[in-house]
Amino acid sequence: MSDVRPGADLVVVTDLVKRFGQNAAVDGVSLTIREGEVFGLLGPNGAGKTTAISMISCLIAPTGGTVTVGGFSVANDASKVKKALGIVPQEIALYPTLTALENLRFWGRMYGLSGALLEERVAEALETAGLADRAKERVETYSGGMKRRINIAAGIMHHPRLLIMDEPTVGIDPQSRNHILETVKELNKRGMTVLYTSHYMEEVEFLCDRVAIVDHGRVIACGTVEQLKRLVGDENVISVRIASIPDGVMESLRELTAVDSVTLHVPLLKERDGEPVQDSDVSPAGAGEGVTIEVLSRDSGAVIADVVGVLGRAGAHVLAVDVREPNLESVFLHLTGTSLRD
Ligand SMILES: Nc1ncnc2c1ncn2[C@@H]1O[C@H](COP(=O)(O)OP(=O)(O)O)[C@@H](O)[C@H]1O
Ligand SMILES: [Mg+2]
Repeated sequence: MSDVRPGADLVVVTDLVKRFGQNAAVDGVSLTIREGEVFGLLGPNGAGKTTAISMISCLIAPTGGTVTVGGFSVANDASKVKKALGIVPQEIALYPTLTALENLRFWGRMYGLSGALLEERVAEALETAGLADRAKERVETYSGGMKRRINIAAGIMHHPRLLIMDEPTVGIDPQSRNHILETVKELNKRGMTVLYTSHYMEEVEFLCDRVAIVDHGRVIACGTVEQLKRLVGDENVISVRIASIPDGVMESLRELTAVDSVTLHVPLLKERDGEPVQDSDVSPAGAGEGVTIEVLSRDSGAVIADVVGVLGRAGAHVLAVDVREPNLESVFLHLTGTSLRD
């Protein structure tokens, strides 16, 4: 990575479009990723994140627009682009009946590594994945989180300039998730530029130097987390956890003066390694039992008593109330009127 110039433009995406029939999955995206940063693509399911990174990594051809990586065009210099990047796809790309070691050797050879260098890089990747002691076990015996970690190891063996990770923590256990987040930080510290997609705003806030918020195939805002939060102005988030939601209460809350928006968060049941788990297990934003109502307001001090009053009169059992600064979820809500988790 001798030609690394921190802060220089590494990825330049201009007016990128991908249509599937009538549907524009990516609808005119322009963005720049600088060398040395962790860049986040944050958006709900179906926003076009996977489609966009598939074009950046030469897996599918754009309908329109251009992409360059390290100055090389995806359309004309695909082989040079592919050498510069490592990709960690959403789908696990491993051979289940082979061991982790064998899988990594296979991927290393695909990237042109061999001999002592191959062995060195395999060992290094296993160390990074925190799985050196399990390397000789078959991947099919691994948990979902361990498979994800090996998938990441497979993407970094050739020391790519740019690592693209597509929602690498969806549906895995909290330990593996934390390990993955720490791994991203560590790889970035060693000089790797990272493009990280997620619909978990906490992860993006934790990891990313700059973030593009995407919705319906478009970038609706781009900047540092601090810059994005300023878009919400001086609004605060009042978060009220209640045991269950009485009929009509959302409408009553929306009618209050100084209330800008009201959203409901119900913990979802998700699958983890075939077992159903609470969304709160895989995302720190999910909050225990009951449902959470989030109210955005410019005047939280005055509004909080009204909110609790409305809920009380409707017969809701209030479990907890919390007021906080806006986060990326509030930014998304402010810009689109919908929740990232809808
Ligand atoms: N191969 C495809 N054929 C048709 N439609 C697709 C295809 N891939 C993605 N889409 C559609 O494009 C939109 C964006 O999908 P995707 O890029 O997977 O979003 P995300 O990764 O943000 O969840 C969705 O509406 C999806 O159904
Ligand atoms: Mg996706």
